[in-house]
Amino acid sequence: AATSLFAHAQTYPGSKPVSIVVPFAAGGPTDRVARDLAEAMRKAMGGTANFVVENVNGAGGTIGATKVAKANPDGHTLLLHHIGMAAAPALYRKLQYKPLEDFEYLGMINEVPMTLIGKPQLPANTYRDFENYIKANSGKLNIAHAGLGSASHLCGLMWQSAINAKEAMTTIPFGGTGPAMNALVGGQVDLMCDQTTNTTGQIEAGRVKAFAVTTAKPLSKHKLLKDYPTLQEMGLKGFDLTIWHGLYAPKGTPPAVLAQLNTALKIALKDADFMKKQDGLGAVIVTDKRVEPDVHKAFVAAEIAKLKPVIDAAKQFAD
Ligand code: MLT
Repeated sequence: AATSLFAHAQTYPGSKPVSIVVPFAAGGPTDRVARDLAEAMRKAMGGTANFVVENVNGAGGTIGATKVAKANPDGHTLLLHHIGMAAAPALYRKLQYKPLEDFEYLGMINEVPMTLIGKPQLPANTYRDFENYIKANSGKLNIAHAGLGSASHLCGLMWQSAINAKEAMTTIPFGGTGPAMNALVGGQVDLMCDQTTNTTGQIEAGRVKAFAVTTAKPLSKHKLLKDYPTLQEMGLKGFDLTIWHGLYAPKGTPPAVLAQLNTALKIALKDADFMKKQDGLGAVIVTDKRVEPDVHKAFVAAEIAKLKPVIDAAKQFAD
């Protein structure tokens, strides 16, 4: 059925591949979503367009987002990004793009919980031990993230603020939480807050220790993650952080091209293989009206407004 949708359509403008820019290093959760989605969109367009992933990392995702904001709006450069689209305006005074004006919104993709994890040698096994250890070692520990405004940075910011861990730890930036995870597994950094798409496999393999999930509700449907408490259950009132991913094109991309991409995205989100992969990693694909471009754009606008005071209040941890 999918291919018939495009069988009659003219092939996607031009024969060069469609680059899906991931504003973080390969091997991380954003890259994971992009590679799985690229495969599903390739299938959805019945071979009339070849989607490839291009990693452009740095500065918490703002370098990659800037590249797409300024790219030729010919439908051959897309951005797959996340909550960082809404966090960056509160952290970068000279942001090179306006999130709501410089992109065409193609739609929301999924929602992904986060987990608080530590290096295997960390002398803590429960969240309570973990928090006590952090406070007992104030100033001696370091927390990894993927740059100012990344999801891992935002989570760390909110969590340090919630436990009032002033000066408790140094924040160490990486090009993405793929490389950051390697450092954590290797014991070069002490802890991190990262998306389940990247942490589930490592937790299952015993290469990192997990202490809590960041969602308001326990992940009771997930065979592994159901065993970890939420931060609210651990006493952090109102702590509720779920990462979302969306797909964007440069402003000015022709409506006919946007329409093809929107159709392909909706088919891809229902692709059995894509759904199975995302489900196994604790991600929840968006199946309701939030996929719609205008609904997703309104959602991002609301996220920008919601995150500003949260980030302003926690900025002291943003070093
Ligand atoms: C983030 O922390 O924003 C992402 O996990 C970075 C990444 O996908 O590598």
